[in-house]
Amino acid sequence: MAKKKIALIGGGQIGGVLAQLIGLRELADVILFYIVEDMPQGKTLDIAEASRIDGFDVKLKGTNEYKDIDNADVVIITAGLPRKPGMSRDDLLTTNAKIMKSVAEGVKEHAPNAIVIIISNPLDAMVTLFQKVTGFDHNKVIGQAGVLDSSRFSSFIAWELGVSVKDINAMVLGGHGDTMVPLVRYANVNGVPVMEQLERKYGDATKAKEVMDAMVTRTKKAGGEVVGLLKTGSAFYSPASAAVAMAEAILGDQKRVLPSCVYLNGEYGVDGYYVGVPAVLGENGCERVLEVTLNDEEQAAFDVSVNAVKNLVADMERLGF
Ligand code: APR
Repeated sequence: MAKKKIALIGGGQIGGVLAQLIGLRELADVILFYIVEDMPQGKTLDIAEASRIDGFDVKLKGTNEYKDIDNADVVIITAGLPRKPGMSRDDLLTTNAKIMKSVAEGVKEHAPNAIVIIISNPLDAMVTLFQKVTGFDHNKVIGQAGVLDSSRFSSFIAWELGVSVKDINAMVLGGHGDTMVPLVRYANVNGVPVMEQLERKYGDATKAKEVMDAMVTRTKKAGGEVVGLLKTGSAFYSPASAAVAMAEAILGDQKRVLPSCVYLNGEYGVDGYYVGVPAVLGENGCERVLEVTLNDEEQAAFDVSVNAVKNLVADMERLGF
């Protein structure tokens, strides 16, 4: 198999971890783009010089020119400012929309056939804007949010139940904001509902619900929790891991079902918006949306989240993007 190429746009905290993870997994050659002279070159040189130690053999290159992303199979975009303490993802809208517009123009010109994974926040708006500027097929423009939000939810459940996180399956739908919808009813430990396990642990349905509610709230605020602790910048290890899982599914045509921010064409009753739902990821990007039956309460929460996405996109359009 010919060696694949992943272009990373944005050489900050997430960009650096992405380059290292892709190298360690020998997933593809890496081109790291950022406008500041020498910085991406320094970062990739540093990572590449560990390759003998870690035993990986891929090409890692830093660049300040978009032309070097030519023929990338996958482009992962982290360009944009991260949140500061107290800031919502939406506060970032204007600044990051300007950056995303320039990035979209660069990717459109130099990597028109790539499948694109976007991490920059506010996520749902940035994905919408990127697709609008490039005109790329909707299935080839995907946002990273659900893989991380679901991993966070799974971690909290594993810690609460004292079992391995590997045996937890839990999913988060909706926008990547405070209205996201962790799906409690479907969360399970190797097929056994988490709620059942919590009720056994506490011997009391009310207490079990309280514990679950706290985990749901923590999941929704998990990004902010990390921002609050770090003081400067936002989460970067976990978003990078999440995007690498998505890139791996796409490059390997794995058909993995990963919660992703994808374009809905009537699924879940939503038409024409990017929203987080389980998607089948393969060589064509988002190949299919997997529909999940929602009860009235879940559907209501999902609708609130979809409305938040719609308002965010409307705000962005009012700002001229
Ligand atoms: N063109 C290309 N890249 C840019 C531009 C631009 N015009 N402006 C900024 N960048 C890149 C830089 O490489 C900068 O270092 O964006 C990077 C952002 O890096 P960090 O500030 O370290 O932010 P990071 O933690 O990587 O988060 C990036 O992902 O999760 C989201 O909210 C987060 O929007 C933020 C993004």
